[in-house]
Amino acid sequence: MTKFPQPRGTQDVLPASWRRRARVLDVARARFEAAGFGRISTPTFEHTELFHRGVGEATDIVGKETYTFEDRGGRSLTLRPEGTAGVARAFVNHGMHREPLPVKLWYAASMFRYEKPQAGRLREHEQIGCELFGSALPAADVEVIATQAAIYRELGLPNLQLHLNSVGSGEARAAYRAALVDYLEPYRPELDADSVERLTTNPMRILDSKVPRTIEIVADAPRLPEYLTAADRAQLDTICMLLDGIDVPFVLDPTLVRGLDYYTSTVWEFSSNALGAQSAVGGGGRYDALVEQFGGAPTPAVGFGSGVERIVLCLEAMEAAGDSAAMDVYIGVDDPQSAAGWSRALQLATHLRDAGRRVELDLAGRSAKGQHKHAARLGARCRVLASTQSMQLVERGSFDPTELPADPAAAAHALAARPV
Ligand code: HAM
Repeated sequence: MTKFPQPRGTQDVLPASWRRRARVLDVARARFEAAGFGRISTPTFEHTELFHRGVGEATDIVGKETYTFEDRGGRSLTLRPEGTAGVARAFVNHGMHREPLPVKLWYAASMFRYEKPQAGRLREHEQIGCELFGSALPAADVEVIATQAAIYRELGLPNLQLHLNSVGSGEARAAYRAALVDYLEPYRPELDADSVERLTTNPMRILDSKVPRTIEIVADAPRLPEYLTAADRAQLDTICMLLDGIDVPFVLDPTLVRGLDYYTSTVWEFSSNALGAQSAVGGGGRYDALVEQFGGAPTPAVGFGSGVERIVLCLEAMEAAGDSAAMDVYIGVDDPQSAAGWSRALQLATHLRDAGRRVELDLAGRSAKGQHKHAARLGARCRVLASTQSMQLVERGSFDPTELPADPAAAAHALAARPV
């Protein structure tokens, strides 16, 4: 028994773990900077009222999980449970709305939540995240999602699913909330205790319940998408179209509500099946009313946060599964006798390797089918088929080719810049 055990739900990060963690932070910093985000740090603690007003008194995060204390001057302070409220407060206090918009900020900082500790759930965790203030355009949501996806992709996180939803404008949410309460009220005796409490405080969170009987009841509940206004729906449709355009796969998930009250339309979450119960690697959304609520000028905003420890857990799971040796790109030629095809393939391999990608060439001269099989065996994320005239890209698990630029340097550039 150690004399001073560390507090429950905290961890010491020793040098061996720092290697992986540092890579996550380096990749995040580079990706945020590449997208024009500037770094911000805000205090570890804020006035308790900020989180009550911003994140919402009725949320678990504020209602049940905060570390709140009185300082020696009798003020109530709270260790930040999340990053958005503090950054929005700083945006208002420093009059940043007067800067050219949008203002784009990123952070990496510890967050504190008094949760029941388990794998991937700590009482002190670190988040990387960003907030974009001053644009209501769907492209701003996509810019933030794409930046998050790019961080995961560069780290090589496999099999992440992006779930996307809109919780709707105030008008839509009020109508939906009323319909949901009407539907759930008759089931009150069958609901779990938390859900009964939420019936009055925060009914939409009942959709997130993990209690089997509640899940059954909720399955037939009214669906949020039916209550969205035409403007909400148009916003979501455009986001879907833009995500398709940059090849970021997603699923629309009408049950995704997320645990923070400030969201006003788009919400999303990236999850991994490598993480068990705590499957969310990172989530975010649009919060167009928060800045005004903090006393600033009306300013639309959107952002995300992602737990560094959960990203590291995904990387460890991947290494344990031997995926770290996986190839990025497998390149074959359609005619092994074609010098022009090989020239293209070799140039592409050289450019990609210079850009840090792991590349395998099909030096065995396999057939197209053989190349497909061997690429899968090597765990290649995609396959390129070079011919005399052109180059084609085939994603892992697919047979549908898409055309790459015929010039190997341009093709390498397109491949290196690919989102998740
Ligand atoms: P959140 O979903 O509450 O969102 O947290 C973001 C991420 O932090 C989660 O997806 C998870 O990876 C990590 N995380 C949360 N709680 C814990 C915990 N107890 N232990 C380990 N990791 C955890 C927010 O905090 C929002 N501020 C995100 C945002 C930014 N929305 C708009 N802008």
